[in-house]
Amino acid sequence: MSDVRVVVFDDAETAAGHVAGLLLGRLRAEPASVVGLAAGNTPRPVHAHLRAEAGGALAAAHLVGLDEYVGLAADDPAAFRTQFRRELVDPLGLAAERLHTLEGVAADLLAECARFEAALADLGGVSWQLLGIGRNGHIGFNEPGTPFDSRTRPVPLSETTRRDNAAAFAPDREVPRVALTQGIGTILSARSLVLLATGETKAEAVAAAVQGPCTVAVPASALQRHPDATVVLDRPAARRLR
Ligand code: GLP
Repeated sequence: MSDVRVVVFDDAETAAGHVAGLLLGRLRAEPASVVGLAAGNTPRPVHAHLRAEAGGALAAAHLVGLDEYVGLAADDPAAFRTQFRRELVDPLGLAAERLHTLEGVAADLLAECARFEAALADLGGVSWQLLGIGRNGHIGFNEPGTPFDSRTRPVPLSETTRRDNAAAFAPDREVPRVALTQGIGTILSARSLVLLATGETKAEAVAAAVQGPCTVAVPASALQRHPDATVVLDRPAARRLR
């Protein structure tokens, strides 16, 4: 059994409100926190709560992205950076230079990953990291089989992940086949981890991550190795928990 803290709410909206509250609590104690953001659908209601409730709470923080598609420019509508700009940075009036993300069109992808790790180290590491989870248990774009000591690097995307993420792309566009992602070791270096999962499609991955063995076959089970990991769920995502 793991020490991962699990909190279950009746619905996704309440779960998202709780996550926003956790972050705002951290920011009250440490306004200059380095906050790790996750992209995708799950964090959208968290971002909405932050837009409504954060006021100036994020002004002194740094925001760090978890992953990015290769081949998408920073202003591409499907890029994760664009999601953070649209849902948080622009509406909250945050300074764009406080958003630190991987550059998906960098000429040298390995050098870009090294630059990003160095930038994280310069910031003193991530203080509070929000995570989502893929149906196959991935965190960031770390697919099953990824070593727990992996660092930021280019990765091929599985067909499942490309299909799951296709809705974010216009119908005439291909979902990229490669992404840059913080490694599991990078993610585990954050001081606090909060994984938010909502909806029944995540129930199996959540149960494997929290109550299954700690194994590279389930990337999110790495949270069991972290001293301060919280998993926030709605009831459907918690359905398979014992
Ligand atoms: C994506 C992203 C992850 C995200 C996960 C779940 O592929 N790389 O960072 O957490 O899959 O996405 P969603 O919240 O849209 O289900």
